[in-house]
Amino acid sequence: MTRPHGSGRKTALKDRPAIDPPAWFAEQANQADPSVYETFEREWPDCWRRAAELLDWEEAYDSVLDGEDGPPFEWFAGGTLNASYNCIDRHLPERKNQLALIWEGHGESRTYTYRELSREVNAVAAALRERGVEEDDVVTIYLPMVPELPVVMLACVRLGVVHNVVFAGFSSGALAERMERTGSELLVTCDGYYRRGSAVAQKNKADNARIAVEQDVSVVVLDRLGRDVHLGKDYYDYATLRDAHDGETVDPVPRDASDTLFRIYTSGTTGEPKAVDHTTGGYLAHVAWTSESVLDVKPTDTYWCSADIGWITGHSYIVYGPLALGTTTVLYNGTPDHPEKDRLWDIVERYAVDVFYTAPTAIRAFMKWGEEYPAQHDLSSLRLLGTVGEPIDERAWQWYREHIGGGEAPVVDTWWQTETGAILVATLPGVDAMKPGAAGKPLPGIETDVVDPAGEPVDRGEAGELVVTRPWPGMPRALRTGEDWGAASVHGDEWRYYPEDGATVDGDGYVTFLGRIDDAINVAGRRFSTMELESAIAGVEGVAETAVVGANHATTGTAVYAYVSPEGNCAEADLEARIEAAVEAAIGSVATPEAIIFTPDLPKTRSGKVMRRLLTAVANGDELGDTSALRNPEILGELQSATPDR
Ligand code: WTA
Repeated sequence: MTRPHGSGRKTALKDRPAIDPPAWFAEQANQADPSVYETFEREWPDCWRRAAELLDWEEAYDSVLDGEDGPPFEWFAGGTLNASYNCIDRHLPERKNQLALIWEGHGESRTYTYRELSREVNAVAAALRERGVEEDDVVTIYLPMVPELPVVMLACVRLGVVHNVVFAGFSSGALAERMERTGSELLVTCDGYYRRGSAVAQKNKADNARIAVEQDVSVVVLDRLGRDVHLGKDYYDYATLRDAHDGETVDPVPRDASDTLFRIYTSGTTGEPKAVDHTTGGYLAHVAWTSESVLDVKPTDTYWCSADIGWITGHSYIVYGPLALGTTTVLYNGTPDHPEKDRLWDIVERYAVDVFYTAPTAIRAFMKWGEEYPAQHDLSSLRLLGTVGEPIDERAWQWYREHIGGGEAPVVDTWWQTETGAILVATLPGVDAMKPGAAGKPLPGIETDVVDPAGEPVDRGEAGELVVTRPWPGMPRALRTGEDWGAASVHGDEWRYYPEDGATVDGDGYVTFLGRIDDAINVAGRRFSTMELESAIAGVEGVAETAVVGANHATTGTAVYAYVSPEGNCAEADLEARIEAAVEAAIGSVATPEAIIFTPDLPKTRSGKVMRRLLTAVANGDELGDTSALRNPEILGELQSATPDR
């Protein structure tokens, strides 16, 4: 493989070169059977029994899937189970003294064996029950990345209580909206926490949200700062509640496979938060199976997903998948560059992390900081690398494999969404060749297609919209029941789910994602995906990160504005010429950016997603609107003055 410097990538429409998984990886992989695709196809939907078999069921299910052709779909009907039992109790006979959690915080760290985790979860479950929480109630959790976050989640599900985790970095308004919509009457939060060395006043935000909602809310407060916070009426101290029940045991409440395990909100197309309810049986089976087959997680591993539990990635692949498989999962509370830019690699080395799962935006930041930071550490424990959250361009993929994976570790690019609950498209690293830049094939048992606006399949290599054409075990309640969710529909007599992602599929069935379909830019009647442009620009040596938006243009309708954050000491004039050449080579001069604007950073949400909406507003000279979700609002003024007057 040569890196496609300067010339940009070949375009998504051509087949990408494939890289076989190394033999040493396949030899030890959980999933190394090349016939797995055929077997799943032949046995569908019964193939998903294999996923269910990774769990312990209280009551065996009667059928794998009821309602194959259309909603309502019911996975594992008749089966009952408890997620807390599956993530903790069943591991105790074999590995009670093995670590379940490793927590790295701000100047402190803590570990929990499975036995210690069991003790915590039982005590907190007993305390919640005493506070009057009952099966199917919704408890809202507003905690940063501390061990008590998964403890409270598991305590809830032990009782059959639905948790509603709200990302700790959200505002009090966002918290209030999510509490009110669920009618949640109990909130678990903390006094505050440290971020980049300074304290965030979490309880203040929680107090404001509590006052803003209609229902009465009692609040359990975890003391993180040790500042002797005064707790008024309906406020309870976490440690006091926990200690009062220390040593008690609570029987896990058996739940129907289709009962809700948790609720999580995501951004819907309407601009209002959209509630996604995941199930106890189908979801847990799907996350366990993908943790095993895609992320190759083994009980003996130290596994680290660097996401925040406040997002779906953390729910599925920090808490439920890894713990269901009985592995050691790492929780990190902090940022990747504090105190130093080698923070993550220091953690990988210290704990000898086997599998590391992160987001392309983080990888692009690592590239920007330079390879000298990972080079300071022994990363040879890493066996497998994963990415999720957005398309990863070929250059970032190669950098990740080279500088983090020692040029050896396979990289799995995993495509999924809050709505899908678990991974749907990725390569199976013990079976499939990898194609950098393409996520991979739909997993065994998953069927997708790429269609045009009329819903008809496009030719191989043509861009279109991805559709999922069969139900999957991790599907959320609204899709199972067929209620109107705006994203599922019937085409002819075929049920489909529309994730709203643009994609192409190549001759081997590998899907390349082109970004959200609502991010398309139409220049002079030709539609370009922001991803396609970004991928071309990101392939240019000296570019650390880029985001492309459409700005109104008098003649072409829309013009391409490229915001580019360059690596260290790169001459901008030279870079500009090479970016133009790369776009021309990859797509054509019709797509050459109208403006290339250099910036030290892009506006990002706290989860690291680039806020294109704000860049579009900046490019158009419009009002910026709500900027409260930004992690770096200070960058906006700089961007406004750097953007050419129109
Ligand atoms: C995008 C995060 C390309 C996609 C798990 C999807 C990806 C949205 C990938 C869901 C990937 C996620 N390649 N795009 N590997 N993974 N996406 O709900 O647009 O926060 O629809 O779930 O992220 O984001 P969400």
